[in-house]
Amino acid sequence: MALITKKIKGTEDVLPKDSYRWQFIEKVMREESAAYGFKEIRTPVFEHTELFARGVGQTTDVVQKEMYTFDTKGGESVTLRPEGTAGAARAVLEHALDNEGLPIKASYFVSCYRYEKPQAGRLREFHQFGLEEYGTQDPIADAELICAAQSIFDRLGITQLRLEINSIGCPECRAKYHEALKSYFAEYKGELCETCLSRLEKNPMRILDCKSPVCSKIAENAPKITDYLCEECEQHFESVQSYLRAAGVEYTVNPTIVRGLDYYTKTVFEFVTDCIGAQGTVCGGGRYDGLIEQLGGRHMPSLGFAMGLERLLMVMDSQGIEIPDDNTCRLYIATMGEKARLKAFELVRTVREYGIFAETDVVGRGLRAQMKYADKIGAEFSLVLGDNELEQNTAKLKNMQTGEQTEITLDEDFAESFMKLIISRIAEI
Ligand code: HAM
Repeated sequence: MALITKKIKGTEDVLPKDSYRWQFIEKVMREESAAYGFKEIRTPVFEHTELFARGVGQTTDVVQKEMYTFDTKGGESVTLRPEGTAGAARAVLEHALDNEGLPIKASYFVSCYRYEKPQAGRLREFHQFGLEEYGTQDPIADAELICAAQSIFDRLGITQLRLEINSIGCPECRAKYHEALKSYFAEYKGELCETCLSRLEKNPMRILDCKSPVCSKIAENAPKITDYLCEECEQHFESVQSYLRAAGVEYTVNPTIVRGLDYYTKTVFEFVTDCIGAQGTVCGGGRYDGLIEQLGGRHMPSLGFAMGLERLLMVMDSQGIEIPDDNTCRLYIATMGEKARLKAFELVRTVREYGIFAETDVVGRGLRAQMKYADKIGAEFSLVLGDNELEQNTAKLKNMQTGEQTEITLDEDFAESFMKLIISRIAEI
């Protein structure tokens, strides 16, 4: 039968056989970020469109071209989140989390939606892990946040990842920089794409991250923000770098990094790799000192980053990093006859109570087919239960790899005996 419909372009399924890969990296991210004091925040997948228009910025590619926006039956305009920062900031404000003391440290896993042209490493639905920290303007926080990202990459065994940092200043230095950009780009009015022409007056910095080849070529020689930083921003940037050096985190200053979202101020950074093709930015972030105010809150300097989980897994694959699949079947109980089935049903339950993955037949296979299946799922041990075993109340536990057999009693201590056996086996390894 033909499929009714296939998955939407730019989306991916994570199949049961592969989900351990996601769970592994997520576990590492949870543990590392917890060590840095971050607690998870969960926000809705859709928000009022205005939140992103105001937060991410009207003149960004994300808002102008890529958002999944629709009107609800109630006539509200809502948007599927294109990123996690705006929603988290909204929640912090709405629940007045700053009353609980600063800084507030939040982590998240979010699915994001951007109507971009799909290619390797660029999806329309993708997943991010992010950290956000609210209520500190101290450069030590910038360095600490970068260290948290670095720790995650280190624990995952990822190498060949460059950390590139820059400062894009505060509104004060930005104003001067905008003037310089305007006069530079004005020379190329005839060549810029239509979107960039409209950006020229409103937000010329956005021309720097336009994806059109003509605009990006022109942007190559544009003035650099680092030449326009005010003293405070320059000092902040210097200080971030000295903390990074103290932490032994390697980085390069890349004055062309401006990030594609409007909320950034001062420090911005990206972790970039060459091993997964054109979409090599695995993680991006920076400071956003004005965002909370822009959303209606008080002045609350903040910062954060997000890493793309799909890209991260691609990097790990390309670097041949093996991800352990812990959830292998420890025990398969094959059965002959209804009585044995009932006994096996009971035994696997007791084993599972120890959190051990155990299986028995639930599809009505014959004995041979059951053993074939046990082999296929990679069961470590198997047990065959028939009338004889039930009568004697013992059975032979077979190590599927070595063929070695051990007698085991089918009493109430069965699960415990089995567990001890597994533990002693792990100890041997
Ligand atoms: P972003 O650079 O737009 O920043 O996205 C962060 C990461 O998400 C990227 O480095 C990339 O790994 C991944 N990513 C972005 N777009 C796609 C896509 N179409 N397909 C696959 N992966 C993608 C942000 O979203 C900011 N909210 C980060 C941040 C948090 N800044 C401060 N706090």
